[in-house]
Amino acid sequence: MVSLGLLASLLAICITSSLAKRTPTTDVRCPGYEATNVSQGDSYLVADLVFAGNCSLYNKDITNLRLLVEYQSGSRLHVLIGDSDYNVYQVQEQVLPRPRTQNVTASSAELKFSYTKSPFSFQVTRASTGETLFDTSSEPLIFESQFVQVQTTLPQDANLYGLGEHSDDFRLAASNYERSFWNAESPYIPRGRNLYGSHPVYFDHRLSGTHGVFLASASGMDINFGVNSAGQRYLQYTTIGGVLDFYFLAGPEPASVSKQYAEVVGLPAMMPYWIFGFHQCKYGWGDVGHVKQVMANYSAAGIPLETLWGDIDYMDRHEDFTTSPERYPHAEVRDLVASLHKNGQHYIVILDPGIHHQAGYATYDRGAEKDVFLKNADGSPYLGRQWAGEVVWPDWFAPSAQDWWTSEIKLFFDTSTGIDVDGLWVDMDEASNMCDLQCSGQAKAGAPRRARHSINWMSRYGPGQTPGPMKGLPNRNLLSPPYRINNHNGDLWGGTLATNIANADGSYQYDTHNLYGHMMAAATHDALLAARPTKRPFVLTRSTFAGSGRKAAHWFGDNASTWDDYRVSIAQMLAFAAIHAMPMVGSDVCGFNGDAEEKMCARWATLGAFQPFYRNHADITAPSQEFYRWGLVRDAAKKAIDARYRLLDYVYTAMHAASATGTPIASPLWFAYPRDANTFGIQTQWLWGDALIVSPVVDTDSQSVTFYLPNDVFYDFWTGEKVASQGAQVTVDNVAWTDIPVHIRGGSIVPLRAQSASTTAEVRSQNFTIVVAPGLDGTAKGGLYLDDGESLDVGSAKSDISFSWDGKTFQAAGTFGYATDVVVESVTVLGDSEQTKKGPWGLGQGFRFRF
Ligand code: NOJ
Repeated sequence: MVSLGLLASLLAICITSSLAKRTPTTDVRCPGYEATNVSQGDSYLVADLVFAGNCSLYNKDITNLRLLVEYQSGSRLHVLIGDSDYNVYQVQEQVLPRPRTQNVTASSAELKFSYTKSPFSFQVTRASTGETLFDTSSEPLIFESQFVQVQTTLPQDANLYGLGEHSDDFRLAASNYERSFWNAESPYIPRGRNLYGSHPVYFDHRLSGTHGVFLASASGMDINFGVNSAGQRYLQYTTIGGVLDFYFLAGPEPASVSKQYAEVVGLPAMMPYWIFGFHQCKYGWGDVGHVKQVMANYSAAGIPLETLWGDIDYMDRHEDFTTSPERYPHAEVRDLVASLHKNGQHYIVILDPGIHHQAGYATYDRGAEKDVFLKNADGSPYLGRQWAGEVVWPDWFAPSAQDWWTSEIKLFFDTSTGIDVDGLWVDMDEASNMCDLQCSGQAKAGAPRRARHSINWMSRYGPGQTPGPMKGLPNRNLLSPPYRINNHNGDLWGGTLATNIANADGSYQYDTHNLYGHMMAAATHDALLAARPTKRPFVLTRSTFAGSGRKAAHWFGDNASTWDDYRVSIAQMLAFAAIHAMPMVGSDVCGFNGDAEEKMCARWATLGAFQPFYRNHADITAPSQEFYRWGLVRDAAKKAIDARYRLLDYVYTAMHAASATGTPIASPLWFAYPRDANTFGIQTQWLWGDALIVSPVVDTDSQSVTFYLPNDVFYDFWTGEKVASQGAQVTVDNVAWTDIPVHIRGGSIVPLRAQSASTTAEVRSQNFTIVVAPGLDGTAKGGLYLDDGESLDVGSAKSDISFSWDGKTFQAAGTFGYATDVVVESVTVLGDSEQTKKGPWGLGQGFRFRF
């Protein structure tokens, strides 16, 4: 029998939790703010926003806000709304450096700011067309200590992309859709849920142009898409804290928005050449002998293998910076790495943030000594659970955290006595905690630590005002805030660190949770840089935040061996590479969870070869799925890797452009055909570099594919055959299990290696052959970037070559600082009458000839 008391408490719990969640669009209409003390210069506007009444939906309203508007460049407008005391959390410069203001006058900027005084709202319009891009007037701004809400209306023709990380459609649903931002371990990458990273940026593409909106906030939040009572589409931000720190990016071309966004969050790291090779990993390789066998099997099967990866199996008791004496003896791992290196192959190992809480474990002892672990309010270590058992967690804000991490990495990976790895893989860094509040036994709101003063980058805040530390407001409920975001792990602390834990800089996990993986990846990158100062560091991270591409690559986590996840990997790649300024991304090829099936794995082996990061990986519970295990997969992989390696310099050239300018390495078709509305919803084809269109078979167990070719001329990549399209769906039947349709866009010149090889090092010594694909006007252009593939600073030892074809003459011009014996063997002009001219032409200088 249930007692009345119990019933009452159950009812109370139900009521509280339904109240505690959500109602993103409230029935209560808050009065909003009034803009006062507006002061305006040529390139800025500042104002006080004063709360005009009472609302307190979830917490008390913050009555005095400050508005800052900066015309930062011709194409970038910055709008920042925070509390006038500067206590509300602001992502700090050292975590996400943002561009210094290079003010331009408002009159010369493409984006215009205007506002309504009361209730305060603002609009961003495009100067050249007068079009409204962002308009907050439909709902008054709400700014409470743990509930902040702002809404913009959208026109019917807005197509929105981004807001990762998710596994939903690439073009986001127009209404009845919610994206939540709270980095979380997400096995099986469920649709409609928050996943491992947070990138609160969207691109809005319309026939009239593309623009971007970035909210530089790490706070937990929900973004809702809906249609309001006036029938208007809206996008609504609801955050549980943090300032409203918006960057508006004018475009108007899609790739210009990518570049403008990369200017804000940082240009992606230039990757080493070898990382474009094929990688094999598996959780559950029991011992080093097994790994050697995998290496031998690849070699016997004749499938090029560039890198082997060590999952947590290599560790002793799952402790970072150890090797298992029984299964992965140190000397044998060194031998393995030496033989990989001798073959021109590579080795990468995993690290987890959970550090075994065990006196005598040297990494823990040295960390404790340097005071780098998160603590409870009483100063005791904050405990959790990860692979090693009971663990402590690095506090990436601790003053000595970087030193400690760098010295651990240097010690373990020392080239003469340690394991000479070529890169590092950081996992579980959301941070994923297998035992959240219970392990630590704390879980009570700790007394706030005294905040230290931080960099004040908001120099424009009014005269005589002393900014606060911007490390988060005091007196908040940091574990269970009254507004609950739609975190798939329930409470904020579910499956992660307690959000009431203070960081060493005075901020709290509540405000910085979404930065944990970003900071761990950055610390690992910087440690590798200290360990190998002349080489480009490679770090793969599961958890990311806006700007993580500056230092790291990313894979899409624990997907499944299903056709669905095979398809979704394309949309995920497009979001990261084209929208989130993270070019080096890919899925676990053939799927992580569950049993990979031969035909699906053959298709995925092929698909992955045309995506940036190409790694086959599976869970400990999944059967082995190396490419040599099935005939079809072996053949598919060989063919795909052959093409990938012949295109390696073409892709490396695109990577260089991404790191130099932010131009995406892979992008949706609407990037090249922005006025063709048929391309806006395509998420199963993509531009690989700017010259190739990849159109894989995507239907389950199918050998037929229907894809779209815009109004243009194309050439079949495999046969050179010309395909003129008026903008039409093309169906190809009988696509072999080893094949993938790829087209070269007319107007492009593609440099290819004449032959592939078994490692990327050997690819580098193959000669080139160049393919010219004339456009509708008969001309074409392309490029080739060359350097040594690994130095951080190549100085002048690089070549940046432009190719052009005017219908008669082929020309290579540019800079030629990279010394190489490799030559261009031939140039082929595709078309109705294909012609080839044989070289050789050296790559030490330009050349020019007529056909
Ligand atoms: C979770 C990662 O997502 C997966 O790739 C890895 O194999 C396991 N952790 C074990 O380290």
